[in-house]
Amino acid sequence: MKAQSFAELVENNRSRRRFYQDAIVETETLWELVGLARLAPSARNLQPLKYILSNTAEKNASIFDCLSWALDLKGWGGPAEGERPSAYIVILGDTEIAKTIGCDHGIVAQTIMLGAVDKGFGGCIMASVKKDRLRDLLTIPDRYEILLVLALGNPKEEVIIETICDDGDIKYWRDSLGLHHVPKRALDDIIVG
Ligand SMILES: Cc1cc2nc3c(=O)[nH]c(=O)nc-3n(C[C@H](O)[C@H](O)[C@H](O)COP(=O)(O)O)c2cc1C
Repeated sequence: MKAQSFAELVENNRSRRRFYQDAIVETETLWELVGLARLAPSARNLQPLKYILSNTAEKNASIFDCLSWALDLKGWGGPAEGERPSAYIVILGDTEIAKTIGCDHGIVAQTIMLGAVDKGFGGCIMASVKKDRLRDLLTIPDRYEILLVLALGNPKEEVIIETICDDGDIKYWRDSLGLHHVPKRALDDIIVG
């Protein structure tokens, strides 16, 4: 695998939602990714985040059941069997360490995703999660707040970044070849001073 510059890594770190489901993400890899998260900054250095790892068919199926995929792709209910993530990392907030979590989980999520892309994987940060159901299925104790789920695997999907058109539409879309297009605001529009 060709080494990527940091800019290439960021660019290649797109949200991917279809995978080669048979491509295993080893438990060791998931530990290495949480090892990166462990080094991320944390408000007051409280480090309240905890993690659940999944790379088995049964646990993956439970987690998959609790996710909502690409709400803007109307009529697409998420990846079909065979194209689903082969692993997940569930990010939890330990309320015995911090009652409210600022943005630690966002920083950690991006750190893990960049690490995954660096290792040749990819995935999607997911916040649309049926949390009560996930808590039941994985028997997550009440002390842990469910914050995000990271879907991971060997991506099958190509993503094209575009600049937003004059109509200002930010909705991502998929073309007839199955390529996923993501409009991004122009630099001129986001640097306001
Ligand atoms: C905090 C957060 C929550 C997200 N939740 C979901 C989700 O529940 N389901 C989903 O399909 N995508 C989710 N996404 C992915 C976004 O839709 C995606 O980042 C956006 O379309 C831009 O695509 P890009 O990541 O390739 O730039 C989430 C992204 C972030 C940062």
